[in-house]
This record gives sequence, structure tokens and C-alpha cells, in this order.
Amino acid sequence: MQTIYYAAASLDGFIATEDDSLDWLFSLGNLNDSSYPEFIAGVGALAMGSATYEWMLRNADKVAAETGSAWPYSQPAWIFSSRKLPAINGADIRFVSGDVRQTHAEMRAAAGDKNLWIVGGGDLAGQFSDCGLLDQLIIQIGSCTLGAGKPLLPRRLLSPVLRLASVRQMGSGMAELRYQIQRQI
Ligand SMILES: NC(=O)c1ccc[n+]([C@@H]2O[C@H](COP(=O)([O-])OP(=O)(O)OC[C@H]3O[C@@H](n4cnc5c(N)ncnc54)[C@H](OP(=O)(O)O)[C@@H]3O)[C@@H](O)[C@H]2O)c1
Repeated sequence: MQTIYYAAASLDGFIATEDDSLDWLFSLGNLNDSSYPEFIAGVGALAMGSATYEWMLRNADKVAAETGSAWPYSQPAWIFSSRKLPAINGADIRFVSGDVRQTHAEMRAAAGDKNLWIVGGGDLAGQFSDCGLLDQLIIQIGSCTLGAGKPLLPRRLLSPVLRLASVRQMGSGMAELRYQIQRQI
């Protein structure tokens, strides 16, 4: 069981534009041709911050048209927010705030021997990393730059903590990098 931050980023390290648009991402390749189907099959629980969840709320029609449901995840999900947010009908979600360690323990208990997916954003992944709870980064680097936006992982993780495990080209639009995070205790 691994805790994995799986996300797509621009070449200059952003996962969304400053106004939370992901339109730049969709022209880069098809999700079903990527590692995503295999990855999501191994996920037992997931966590995301409120900006990511609110993107799902704003784009519910688009997500439903593409996946058949406004909430495309069958796994239990934890949404981090200090505010009261609306739920999505039929979604197995709970709203949490504060220390990620308690939530991580709950996610582990729910996921069995499957992986935990930290969906994003970058600072939330950083909070798990700060607590030594992030094992792997799987990042699809898109063939584009955004100039500014929401950062991929606003933390300083130096070698040898980040160990490059694999590189895979996905057409001309994406390169997937996998890193194992090695902690010195
Ligand atoms: N390209 C990709 O693969 C990818 C992946 C994921 C997300 N995204 C996109 O990237 C953007 C991410 O936005 P973001 O960087 O702002 O990150 P985010 O993690 O989605 O949202 C950040 C917000 O979550 C809440 N939060 C975070 N940690 C918390 C904690 N411990 N306790 C309570 N609340 C907490 C806070 O807001 P409040 O307390 O005010 O609610 C915080 O401002 C979104 O547009 C999303 O759609 C892209």
C-alpha cells in the first residue's frame, strides 16, 4: 500500500491556471490512453483539497458526460476544507480539516491493501509529505507551459529523497515521471 500523488503538470510546474482552469490539459492526450485506468484500479481511497473539489462541482455536467457520473470515483474520498461545501449526490465523500495524519489513518483503514491517492492540489500533497506520509509521485508532464498557476508541489524535496524510478513517453503530449520518496529517519 502506497500513498501516491498522481497528477498532471505543465512543463513549468503548474497543475492548473491561476483561475483553476484545466482546459490546457485536455488537448494533451486521452486519459484512457494513459496510465490512469491501471492506476485508479489500484486505488482504495482518495483525498483532495477544496479547490479541486470545487472544480468537480463547477464541471459536474462535463464530468458526467465523459464518465457517466458527476462524481467518477467509487472509492471513499476525503475533502479538505475549512468551509461548508455542498455534497455531490451519490458520492462517497466526507469533509475534513486540519492535520492530515488523522485522515491518512482513516484512509488506510478504508483502503485495505490498495493505494491512497492524493489528488491534489500541490500544498495538500505537501502536507502529507511534511508528515512523511507520501511514498510516490506519478506526474504526467504536459508539452506546454502556463507561465503561472497553481503549483505542482510547493515544497523543497532534494535528491536523494526523490528517486527517479521510471520515465515513459505518452505520444507527443506527455511524459510520465515516477519518483519514489525515500525518507531518512
Ligand atoms: N493537473 C492535475 O492533475 C490536477 C490535480 C489536482 C488538482 N488540479 C487542479 O489544481 C487546482 C488545485 O488548487 P489548489 O492548489 O488551490 O489546491 P486544493 O488542495 O484543491 O485546494 C486548496 C484549499 O483546500 C483547503 N485545504 C487544504 N488543506 C487543508 C487542510 N489541511 N484543512 C482544511 N482545509 C484545507 C483550503 O481551502 P478552504 O479551507 O478555504 O476550503 C485550501 O485553500 C484546482 O483547480 C484543481 O482542479 C489539477
